[in-house]
Amino acid sequence: MNNIYGVVLAAGQGTRMKSSLPKVLHKVCGKELISHVLDCMNAAAKLQKLVIVVGNGSDLVIKHIEKYGNTEYVFQEKRLGSAHALLQAEEKLKNLNGHLIVMCGDTPLVKARTIKELLRWHIRMENSATVLSGKVKNPFGYGRIVRNTDGVFTEIVEEKSASDEQKKIDEINSGIYCFDLKVLWAALKKVDNKNNKKEYYLTDVISILNNDGHKTGAICLAEEEEILGVNDRVQLAEAEAIMRKEINIEHMKNGVTVSAPESTYIDKDVVIGHDTIIKPNTHISGRTKIGKNCVIGPDTTIMSCKVEDEVSIVCSYIENSQIKKNVKIGPYAHIRPESVLKENVKVGNFSEVKKSVVGEGSKVNHLSYIGDARVGKNVNIGAGTITCNYDGKNKFKTIINDEVFVGSNVNLVAPVTIGKKVLIAAGSTITDDVLPNKLTIARARQITKVRKNK
Ligand code: UD1
Ligand code: CA
Repeated sequence: MNNIYGVVLAAGQGTRMKSSLPKVLHKVCGKELISHVLDCMNAAAKLQKLVIVVGNGSDLVIKHIEKYGNTEYVFQEKRLGSAHALLQAEEKLKNLNGHLIVMCGDTPLVKARTIKELLRWHIRMENSATVLSGKVKNPFGYGRIVRNTDGVFTEIVEEKSASDEQKKIDEINSGIYCFDLKVLWAALKKVDNKNNKKEYYLTDVISILNNDGHKTGAICLAEEEEILGVNDRVQLAEAEAIMRKEINIEHMKNGVTVSAPESTYIDKDVVIGHDTIIKPNTHISGRTKIGKNCVIGPDTTIMSCKVEDEVSIVCSYIENSQIKKNVKIGPYAHIRPESVLKENVKVGNFSEVKKSVVGEGSKVNHLSYIGDARVGKNVNIGAGTITCNYDGKNKFKTIINDEVFVGSNVNLVAPVTIGKKVLIAAGSTITDDVLPNKLTIARARQITKVRKNK
């Protein structure tokens, strides 16, 4: 199928969010509402074009969607209703034959397989329009799917225009549709705004098509949770809770142990290898990738990191870094952005690493700060070692070569280079470079005197 197009309606005000951020840029499980929708559409069909109708906060929305290769946008100057919004896309899609999938930018939970099924049905039934509907416990606020006594779909009635009888209908419009492009634009132009809200309702296009002798259908295959539209922050939290649960289940099905799903927060695009164990109260966000056979948590946050196999991270906070195979982190370590911990490294209790590379097999086990440093292989960083990388204005580098032994409580005043296999005595403040294989001591000698006036 190479004649499928998509439109996402995302111009609405989002008034109920009470936010200065456009509604569709609010995030669910680490990802903007509109990104969930765009990903869903792209996964459901190979789209020739994907047009986004922007309006409210358009600058920010456009900037965001430009990251998606196949998207184009049109601007809806005045928010006159969903039919008017869709009509704005005509300039990008006129004189085309094929099928159009329309979704709203505020329904992040819809599954690609549901859209695929909707499209398949739409094509098979040769409909001019097919609405994705769903049965819900509380239909309040949604457009109702009206069928005649033979069960034939005749129209959608909005909450505000529905009769008491129609309000009882529990089959609702999800706001997701497929249209035949040949007949859509003409029908859209017939929609008027003679309703309580004075809006051009996209939903009116159904009765217009039916009256013109075209065939329409409503297919009821959406789960109630799937079609939840986010209109306020309460629904935003509901969507988050539903998606979070789904994400955890997905990982468990793929062979990840999630020991306490109720306290595990994993963003949508996170990848985790099998036989990894995620312990309670763990947050994994961004595009983090975690390998196999790792133990992560409890009480751990990992943001946008690449973590290889067999890594263990306990009670720690890791940002934007690369953690290689068999590294052990924590408890209580902070790995700050742009760090690389190579194979078999250990970073432990109350240590912080920032923008540094720590070489294979090296240890930073206790109470240390390693910043702007390059640490070689098999280096031992003693307890309380500090790289003094900052003079109040500029940052400087510390280079520690392979197999150096740094004694406890050492200050390394950068810029400074420590040669291979150097031993630095405990308590030293190192200001000058040290050549390889040396022992260096930089501290006052101890004097012990007789104690007077005891
Ligand atoms: C809409 C449907 C309703 C359906 C519900 C599902 C209409 C008239 N009603 O109601 O039948 O049950 O979705 O969630 O369509 N938009 C614009 N420009 C506008 C107006 C709206 O781009 O001028 C966009 C909004 O950003 C949103 C979508 O259209 O993405 C739907 O608008 P919204 O106001 O959220 O409609 P609902 O009241 O939720
Ligand atoms: Ca809505």
